[in-house]
Amino acid sequence: MLIFLFNFLLLFNILLICLLLNIIDPQIYSWSRYTPPSIVKVVILGQDPYHNDRQAHGLCFSVPHNVPPPPSLLNIYKGLKNDISTFQVPKHGCLVNWAKSGVLLLNTSLTVRAHEPASHSGKGWEKFTDAVIQYLNERKSGLVFMLWGSHAIKKGKAINKTKHLVLEAVHPSPLSAHHGFLDCHHWSKANKYLKDHGKEEIEWNCLAENKNVPIPSNSDLSNNEKID
Ligand SMILES: *[C@@H]1O[C@H](CO)[C@@H](O)[C@H](O)[C@H]1NC(C)=O
Ligand SMILES: *[C@@H]1O[C@H](CO)[C@@H](O)[C@H](O)[C@H]1NC(C)=O
Repeated sequence: MLIFLFNFLLLFNILLICLLLNIIDPQIYSWSRYTPPSIVKVVILGQDPYHNDRQAHGLCFSVPHNVPPPPSLLNIYKGLKNDISTFQVPKHGCLVNWAKSGVLLLNTSLTVRAHEPASHSGKGWEKFTDAVIQYLNERKSGLVFMLWGSHAIKKGKAINKTKHLVLEAVHPSPLSAHHGFLDCHHWSKANKYLKDHGKEEIEWNCLAENKNVPIPSNSDLSNNEKID
């Protein structure tokens, strides 16, 4: 336990130093800025950043406002609409408001060489992202993990299913989405689980243009994140 914590802090500090020295693009880290551990309720595991220019901005499946939503994200919207009929499909693909609402959008690799899918996989990022998952798994309870595709399912193997809800489906990519992703109903299942565990549900509709979700404050970190 202590060794694990030490490793985690070490990795965390190395990242922080790199960030301070501007070695790493700060955007690769935005998932933690918008969704600090104290506010995490749902974790969506992505695989690899989008590899086209200007697409990746640090949140899995999300793209900046000026970039058209990619096919996987359109399928996520489709699945959500199937699940929660009041969901308004946004024209953009920016998921920042989900992130601020407690949906941690975490990739396995946090960087990619432009135009080369998965070019930074197996280079060490996995250790860090595994540590993030392990940390959340151990320290928190009642989280919902959405694992889409065999890669994410494999990465989530160690999650304690007694303490957390683990939802699995095929990847939302157009190659696989029709094998059950579009009817997976993960979003309403997540909300039901959160409600049953005395937590506030996620407002999946918060992506609408005019909604402004405040940036979460980190101040309650000390209450929620007791080190045992
Ligand atoms: C993770 O991958 C998605 C594509 O699935 C991308 O939009 C996002 O920027 C990536 N996140 C990070 C932290 O690189
Ligand atoms: C999983 O969580 C339950 C409930 O908190 C706990 O009793 C059990 O020991 C955990 N299992 C593992 C493998 O950590």
